Amino acid sequence: MPRLTNEKMNLVTMVNPKSPNSESYRKLRTNIQFSSIDSQIQTIMIASAVSGEGKTTTIGNLAVTYAQEGKKVLLMDTDLRKPAVHRMFNVPNHVGLTSVLSNQYSVSEVLRETFIEGLHVLTSGAIPPNPSEMIGSRKMTLLLEELKEQYDVILFDTPPVLSVTDALIISSLCDGVILVVNSGKVKKDVVKKAKAHLEHVNARILGAVLNNFQLSKIRAAHYGES
Ligand SMILES: Nc1ncnc2c1ncn2[C@@H]1O[C@H](COP(=O)(O)OP(=O)(O)O)[C@@H](O)[C@H]1O
Ligand SMILES: [Mg+2]
Repeated sequence: MPRLTNEKMNLVTMVNPKSPNSESYRKLRTNIQFSSIDSQIQTIMIASAVSGEGKTTTIGNLAVTYAQEGKKVLLMDTDLRKPAVHRMFNVPNHVGLTSVLSNQYSVSEVLRETFIEGLHVLTSGAIPPNPSEMIGSRKMTLLLEELKEQYDVILFDTPPVLSVTDALIISSLCDGVILVVNSGKVKKDVVKKAKAHLEHVNARILGAVLNNFQLSKIRAAHYGES
C-alpha cells in the first residue's frame, strides 16, 4: 500500500470512510442539503476568520463525501495566496485557476482528476500578484457559469475572511457559506467579526462547523446551527 502523505491523512473520508469522523462530514453534507428546501445549493464556500482553523481539511473531506454519494464534484482552490488543495490531493499545481483567468490555458486543460471517482480539482495555479482582482474579474464569473453546467456541486477553498477581501468576493459568487470555527484557537469576538463581514456582503451562511481539534486533540468536525 502506498504511504500516505500527511496531507492525504487529512482526508479521513478517503482513508477511513466508516469512522465517526467521516460520519461527521456526511452529516455536514446532509445538513447542507436540508438547509435549503426551496433553492438548490450548488456552489458552496468554506470560510473562517483566520488561517489554520481547518478550512482546507473540512472542504476537502466534504468534497470527497459528495463524490462518495455519486455526485459530480469540483473542488476549486480559490486561496490564491496560500493554496493547499493540490497538496491534499497530490496533484501538480504549475497550472490551474490563475492560468485560466490570465488566458493562458482553457479550463479543460487544467482540471485534474483525483484518486476519488467523480471528484475533480481545479488547483490555484501560480500565485498571482493581484489575487483579489483575479477573483473579482468578469472572467471568473463566466468561468463559474461554465463549470456549473458540468458539475453537480462546486466547492471553494478560500483564504481567511479577516485577512483579505478575496473570501468576501467569493461569497458573492456562491449559493452558501460554511463557517469553520476553531474555538480552541480564536476568540468569540473574532468569529463574530468574520460573521459580520460575511453578512455585510449578504453571504448566505448555511451553518458553522466547530473544529476544536486543539482542545480535544481528536479529529472531529461537528455541525451546529450558526
Ligand atoms: N479536525 C481536525 N483534527 C485535527 N487536525 C486538524 C483538523 N482540522 C484541521 N487540522 C489540522 O490543522 C491544520 C490547519 O488546517 P487547515 O485545514 O489547513 O486550515 P486552514 O485551511 O483553515 O488554514 C492542518 O495541519 C490540519 O491537518
Ligand atoms: Mg487552507
